[in-house]
Amino acid sequence: MSTETMTRAEAAPAVLPVGRYGYDQVDRTFLRERIEQFRDQVNRRIAGDLTEEEFKPLRLMNGLYLQLHAYMLRVAVPYGTLGSKQVRALARIAREFDKGYGHFTTRQNIQFNWIKLEDTVAALEVLAEADMHAIQTSGNCIRNITSDEFAGAAKDELLDPRVHAEILRQWSTLHPEFTFLPRKFKFAISGSPHDRVVARFHDIGLIARPGPHGRPVFEVFVGGGLGRTPIVGVSLRDDLPEEDLLAYMEAILRVYNAHGRRDNIYKARIKILVQALGTDEFRRQVEEEFVAMDRARYRIEPALVAAIKARFGAPDFAPEGNAAAGLAEDRRRDIAFDAWIRTNTHEHKAPGYISVVISLKPAGGIPGDATAEQLDLLADLADEFSFGELRVTHLQNVVLGHVRQDQLHTVWQRLSQAGLGTPNVNFITDIVACPGLDYCALANARSIPIAQKLSSRFADLELQREIGDLRINISGCINACGHHHAAHLGILGVDKRGQEAFQITLGGSGEEDASIGQILGPAMAEDETVDAVSRLIDLYLVRRENGERFLDTYRRVGTAAFKDVVYAPA
Ligand code: HEM
Ligand code: SF4
Repeated sequence: MSTETMTRAEAAPAVLPVGRYGYDQVDRTFLRERIEQFRDQVNRRIAGDLTEEEFKPLRLMNGLYLQLHAYMLRVAVPYGTLGSKQVRALARIAREFDKGYGHFTTRQNIQFNWIKLEDTVAALEVLAEADMHAIQTSGNCIRNITSDEFAGAAKDELLDPRVHAEILRQWSTLHPEFTFLPRKFKFAISGSPHDRVVARFHDIGLIARPGPHGRPVFEVFVGGGLGRTPIVGVSLRDDLPEEDLLAYMEAILRVYNAHGRRDNIYKARIKILVQALGTDEFRRQVEEEFVAMDRARYRIEPALVAAIKARFGAPDFAPEGNAAAGLAEDRRRDIAFDAWIRTNTHEHKAPGYISVVISLKPAGGIPGDATAEQLDLLADLADEFSFGELRVTHLQNVVLGHVRQDQLHTVWQRLSQAGLGTPNVNFITDIVACPGLDYCALANARSIPIAQKLSSRFADLELQREIGDLRINISGCINACGHHHAAHLGILGVDKRGQEAFQITLGGSGEEDASIGQILGPAMAEDETVDAVSRLIDLYLVRRENGERFLDTYRRVGTAAFKDVVYAPA
């Protein structure tokens, strides 16, 4: 599925999927062969010819983890874009092989938590029929390449990053040199100055913009990451030309592959290498490699970009007509609809269209979970209203990218009937949470129940509007899968003398003003933590000035006052 694909433009499928690359027979044959290999491996495990230890590296190559209670299958959604047929395939897996739901993660993957070993091959077959797989969703390789959920739609976007995300996907899939890196490696790419991809907390974050002669250039952030050593990535290049994108990525990966700390799993990520060498020395080594390599081999010519782009379907936008007037009228007539439009939509570049964020965070619900029925509905809505395309966000919500404004009311009604109409995007109940101790073998504490308690405590919509933008992220252990460091208010599950407890961090951001949340004080029990959050919010409401967000007030006022309300209540 790698460089070969780039010369296969003529094999393009007749009907192209909107917003993503259309597979051809070469891609499909590869997936089928891979499944056959795995079938044999699973059969050997079931027959007892392979121990779990022997089976482990084989299953991980196919995104199959072993969790606390069952196997878990992690499926990649490249650059977060799904077709309706793919969404129905996910619904089918949830229904037939899981307990009726799937869990969207912070890296545009979906996880199925209750897969039986004997069903795994059938699940992979369902995925393959819809041009999906779980390859490279585990292991020390280049993982799913994530992108902006409003790619190709957002008004503030400078260029659609998905064609380059696809080029990177093809380059990194089964790349022989980078299949056994010192540690996992995560890319994110955006084409907007507003960072919606957490670029600065990725191993490599790319921000694209139009450069000279209309060809893209990239700012390259490297060495960002969360986990036990959270680090904001540094800018290595501001002006990487499109033609050198792959060569430069290859150079970075080579330096990392050669010098990353394979001796210590906790120091093996590229962020540690960048910190150890210093940005200047790391950059010098990358440039040295870059200059020495056969760059012509990796050069991205305009013809290649055009060939990949030609495999993407593009939405055929209707003229604006009376769409905006229709929306304005619907908003006047229906207050609840108006509230949802305010929070759950994003400005579109095409007149008459809008992007819709569908919250997977109902009051008291499990963040990021979607049932099979909800997935089927999302597929139907994508077909009827958004060119058959659905996107996944890194905040565990989903997006209909291109909805005509005068159809929004219908979309909202259909969503609301299915429990998907919560108007809380970016509010305090739009909580991100990892699976935690309910599923994860590495967890210290349960992330989901505390997320549910917080979301119930703040369920009142008036109160949520009053509080405004506030990001709460929860991780069940220091691995930080829930991005707690990057939240305005982060919650980390710890083990306090054998009991589940939670530490609060304040002041983090995963956006262009990226910062790492600071620990407020000692960890507390679950209920105490929920009360502490209430007190922090009360203080913010008292102290905020001029429409400040929680994060702004915290940054202005400083930690001490916030610490006092939690640890020294009057
Ligand atoms: C359930 C099984 C999972 C396991 C065993 C697992 C394991 C890990 C480990 C060990 C790390 C730390 C890596 C490091 O610092 O080098 C990590 C980081 C991370 N994981 Fe997970 N994880 C799981 C689920 C998830 C889920 C559900 C999400 C999304 C909600 C996720 C997203 C991430 C992210 C975003 C990071 C931190 C960013 C970074 O890589 O620096 N993981 N995971
Ligand atoms: S943060 Fe910890 S508990 Fe949560 S999913 Fe990651 S490894 Fe598991």
